Amino acid sequence: MSTSTPGTRADFEYLDQRDELRSSRERFDLPEGEIYLDGNSLGAMPAHIPARIEKVIKQEWAHGLIRSWNDADWYPAPQRTGAKIAGLIGAQGHEVIVADSTSINLFKVLVAATRLRPGRRVILAERGNFPTDVYIADGVAELTGNQLRCVEPDDILDALDEEVAIVSLTHVNFKSGKRYDMARITERAHAVGALVVWDLCHSAGAMPIALNEVNADFAVGCGYKYLNGGPGAPAFVFVAERHIPHMRQPITGWHGHAKPFDFDHHFRPHPSIGRMLAGTAPQLGVLALEAALEVFDDVDLNALRQKSVALGDLFISLCDQQLAGLGVELRSPRDGEQRGSQVSLAHEQAYAVMQALIARGIVGDFRAPDILRFGFAPLYIRYVDIWDSVVALREILEQKEWDRPEFLARKSVT
Ligand SMILES: Cc1ncc(COP(=O)(O)O)c(C=O)c1O
Repeated sequence: MSTSTPGTRADFEYLDQRDELRSSRERFDLPEGEIYLDGNSLGAMPAHIPARIEKVIKQEWAHGLIRSWNDADWYPAPQRTGAKIAGLIGAQGHEVIVADSTSINLFKVLVAATRLRPGRRVILAERGNFPTDVYIADGVAELTGNQLRCVEPDDILDALDEEVAIVSLTHVNFKSGKRYDMARITERAHAVGALVVWDLCHSAGAMPIALNEVNADFAVGCGYKYLNGGPGAPAFVFVAERHIPHMRQPITGWHGHAKPFDFDHHFRPHPSIGRMLAGTAPQLGVLALEAALEVFDDVDLNALRQKSVALGDLFISLCDQQLAGLGVELRSPRDGEQRGSQVSLAHEQAYAVMQALIARGIVGDFRAPDILRFGFAPLYIRYVDIWDSVVALREILEQKEWDRPEFLARKSVT
């Protein structure tokens, strides 16, 4: 499909009519009359979730009670759900499991990875990565006697040397939407003997990912963004098959034991990816995430990526066309190849501008100090949403609609 900027709303409606993913929007329960451009922060709710959760609560929990761990197949849900996610990230089913949060999984894989590289001293990370990635890497470095080396995103390859044990990066940056070349970085890191940990929070479910094709070592990601698992949904963790038997993660809880129900005094890790578990899974969250993943059934991930890039390209060219002279600057790569599924703009009153957009029913988010962030979840965003959002943004900026006390006052979650 051509992404040269169409000039009218009707042109965008035409793109929707031709969109092969058009019908996937019906799989979601979206608020009538709103445009939701924040699926990169909290994914929209798949329409079948309430019925599934009602069954889990009213039948499996209320009536099945403890028996449901066996009878309703609750116990293997983390493995089952991991295997479904594996299909979205280019992994084998037995290399992925759902557990804990992204932060906790990062801690587990970073410690496990440093243990696979004894004698090396450096964890290499990106300055400007999502804070939890940096904080956790810093904590792990201190705990394991390593040193955290943070460099600018473009300097990662130059900073690779034989001292580096682990490279810890986020595939798509949360603020700029810039996407790393996963194959190239993994290859260069391996060439100096380092392992790589990829955070897929902003890419899983938004594009095809080829973990095994690029020979990835470890990856983590969250369940509540493009995977639509709901607020605080559990996260996932990938360990390449070749590392599973040798890797030791530090949170040696009973669910990661080879035989949890032997209640053995000594810890023996599970031979499979199951060793990444720690304690009892947040079962309602795991089951909601498992059900949510059904929206990806029959979805061609290459078509998904194509649409995601087209939405971003059109958003950028419409902004060029409509927002010139209104104090807005593009902060994401112009080249779709180098972008994830979001576009970030900078404006000195970004917070208030986003509040004014939200008041009009167009929901994106703000990232300090000056970023307006727009996420395009290709399963439910329409081309016409791009047109309507940019037109609304132009009106808000032209009329200074953002300059009101209720838009200027900061809320706690931005
Ligand atoms: C790159 C990245 N990593 C991790 C997280 C969050 O981790 P957690 O689910 O542990 O809060 C986010 C949240 O937005 C993120 O953008």
